[in-house]
Amino acid sequence: MKFLGAPLFLPFASFILLATATAELSSGSGSEFNIEPFHINLSSQFSRLKTLVQQTQLPEQALYPVGPEKGMQLDVLRALKSEWVSSTYDWEKEEKELKSVSHFTAKIENITVHFVHERSEDPNAIPVILLHGWPGLFYEYLPVVKPLTQTASTGVSYHVVVPSIPGFSFSSPPPLNWTIDDTARIFNTLMTEVLGYERYALHGSDWGSSIGYSMYNTFNTSVRAAHFVFLPSPGPSLAEIKEKNITLTEDEKVTAERAEEWSASDDGYFILQATKPNDIGLALYDNPVGILAYVGAEVKRWSDPRAGTPPSLLTSTALLTLVSLYHLTHTFLSSVWIYAQNANVLGSGHTKAATDAPMLFTQYKYNTGFWPEEYIKQVGNLVAYNERDFGGHFPGLDNPPALIEDIRDMAKYFKA
Ligand SMILES: *[C@@H]1O[C@H](CO)[C@@H](O)[C@H](O)[C@H]1NC(C)=O
Ligand SMILES: *[C@@H]1O[C@H](CO)[C@@H](O)[C@H](O)[C@H]1NC(C)=O
Ligand SMILES: *[C@@H]1O[C@H](CO)[C@@H](O)[C@H](O)[C@H]1NC(C)=O
Ligand SMILES: *[C@@H]1O[C@H](CO)[C@@H](O)[C@H](O)[C@H]1NC(C)=O
Ligand SMILES: *[C@@H]1O[C@H](CO)[C@@H](O)[C@H](O)[C@H]1NC(C)=O
Repeated sequence: MKFLGAPLFLPFASFILLATATAELSSGSGSEFNIEPFHINLSSQFSRLKTLVQQTQLPEQALYPVGPEKGMQLDVLRALKSEWVSSTYDWEKEEKELKSVSHFTAKIENITVHFVHERSEDPNAIPVILLHGWPGLFYEYLPVVKPLTQTASTGVSYHVVVPSIPGFSFSSPPPLNWTIDDTARIFNTLMTEVLGYERYALHGSDWGSSIGYSMYNTFNTSVRAAHFVFLPSPGPSLAEIKEKNITLTEDEKVTAERAEEWSASDDGYFILQATKPNDIGLALYDNPVGILAYVGAEVKRWSDPRAGTPPSLLTSTALLTLVSLYHLTHTFLSSVWIYAQNANVLGSGHTKAATDAPMLFTQYKYNTGFWPEEYIKQVGNLVAYNERDFGGHFPGLDNPPALIEDIRDMAKYFKA
């Protein structure tokens, strides 16, 4: 996600043990939500994807000798395309990985909400919801789900819920005028009424931080801690930083300059998706190599330049699986609509959230936005501000050990 022109802000605005048998689910208090286990089976569709990829032609050579500042580079795309159809890329293995966590669907306000749900063995574990954005997916949190359910040396563990935003992966597309605040409401319903978690923590990135901020601000008796790596209102420009005499460390300077550069030259996709979602949505709907060029370029630009080397799990394989999911679930079109549906609610300035719940923030060095501590203090009840020198816009993939630590940190402040 990213902000259009002027700075923006959002107008801020029983227990069901899913680990047990399905039979028990239907008798639980959440039965009106029709919770069902969900099984991923995209193998036959993947063979069609492979055929489409094989039939797609790319230019013999790059038209001009330019770098990634002009978008996806032909040699990078060609290498990814070859890997996708080679024996190195094993969809069965990827699908097995996706299925290593438990998936469910529930019907909330007439929307089929897909979510991953893994419980800790500790009944006193803290419930946490992890919120993705675009072009992220539930998939970006896969590396942190199981570790968070395990008990850390500090005695902390989590019951982890990772929903797909309506219109993404296996969640059904929302009605035309659906906004971030609507998604915040149904995700709060998911945690409290469907799953019976009266009080919970949340983590959000990208659009997930907008959804999470809305939940933090609105459902202030159920959201009792929040961790963000991105915010719905933009951080200060370099000029504002200078004006306000905010001193930056060397790492912060790198991030601030990167954020400024991103605002100035990476907003084309945002404007397109906010104004003509059907153009790009239909153009790429059934074009896997097209989605790879478009989404792959963003993922590469928005992540740590060292992506794919430890501790990053954002390898070419992970990128191909992310892109495969967009194509195989036929949701590229519905995913880009989130920009059009929320373009108007993005205004200027920001307010302090109406909650006493603690907020934690982590600035990843290679993220696409920069928010100094002074800034974060103005939008929430900031209790911890962290900086990480490895990782970018998708820390669940780009630096999972750090994100696990960040989320575990919330336990210090969470009051059930
Ligand atoms: C997956 O779907 C295919 C048809 O698309 C079917 O033949 C196969 O049995 C399914 N596998 C599982 C594990 O459900
Ligand atoms: C519920 O969604 C279905 C499509 O998924 C639609 O046909 C139906 O009209 C919707 N019902 C309500 C009450 O919005
Ligand atoms: C959606 O919003 C637009 C503009 O606010 C309005 O004209 C339209 O009637 C709304 N449509 C629905 C289905 O609510
Ligand atoms: C920043 O520092 C300059 C020079 O020391 C001073 O004139 C100015 O008032 C300061 N601005 C703020 C917002 O503190
Ligand atoms: C929640 O928000 C309401 C309305 O803004 C406010 O009156 C109340 O004190 C808040 N509660 C908590 C626990 O922060």
